[in-house]
Amino acid sequence: MNIILLGPPGAGKGTQSHLLEEHHGMRQLSTGDMLRAAVKAQTPVGIRAKKVMDAGELVSDEIVSALIDAELTAMGDAVGAIFDGYPRTAAQAEQLDGILGQHGRQLDHVIELHVDEDALVERICGRFTCAECGEGYHDEFKQPETEGKCDKCGSTEFKRRPDDNEETVRKRMEEYRAKTAPILPLYEERGIVTRVDGMAPIDDVTTSIEKVLRG
Ligand code: AP5
Ligand code: ZN
Repeated sequence: MNIILLGPPGAGKGTQSHLLEEHHGMRQLSTGDMLRAAVKAQTPVGIRAKKVMDAGELVSDEIVSALIDAELTAMGDAVGAIFDGYPRTAAQAEQLDGILGQHGRQLDHVIELHVDEDALVERICGRFTCAECGEGYHDEFKQPETEGKCDKCGSTEFKRRPDDNEETVRKRMEEYRAKTAPILPLYEERGIVTRVDGMAPIDDVTTSIEKVLRG
């Protein structure tokens, strides 16, 4: 099973990917996470990507598609893939078709997380993650059960993303509207798109996605 989670910044792609990984043994392939890892490691790709990401713009199609290809090669063909934040342009969608073909995979579902844009700024600006294990939290919607301590790994260190400020978030949304939303009709033509209400509580969104996966 190979699926794309499509939705604007803050729609819940990362949150849902982690839950699907936990409950269904699938693997999240997040180009955002891969790029942030490259930035942290100060690789040549990371050094180039940092400026673009901090401005809320899109990194080049060739770079992100190469990251996805490498990741799929490393994970072997038996595990299902959840594409999170990829593809983001028509060129990336085309490149993904080629990459999947080379790996003998096919795309089963595109899940569009439909959300109200005003709520997204609030979601993103309140978001933080565990510095140790990456578990995601939110100032208002998802605090750790014990204050200041990660539910998953017990770490007391948390971090916020440099691109999670209102100005950059608005730019990221603009990029989504201009470059990413237009790829939906492409998948609609193939009859593999399901729209899920991303404004529902987190567990309800998961239930809706699981229903799609069961077919
Ligand atoms: P990326 O890391 O992909 O960021 P994004 O698409 O902007 O998405 P986010 O991670 O912000 O949001 P999300 O949908 O995962 O939401 P989350 O689950 O965290 O990309 C970052 C940058 O990298 C890009 O701007 C670009 O520069 C570059 N990049 C990445 N991929 C690229 C590509 N393919 N091509 C070119 N450039 C690329 O949820 C948000 C918050 O809301 C959390 O706090 C969560 O707890 C909360 N929440 C989630 N669901 C709910 C709910 N149902 N109800 C209440 N709260 C909720
Ligand atoms: Zn943790």
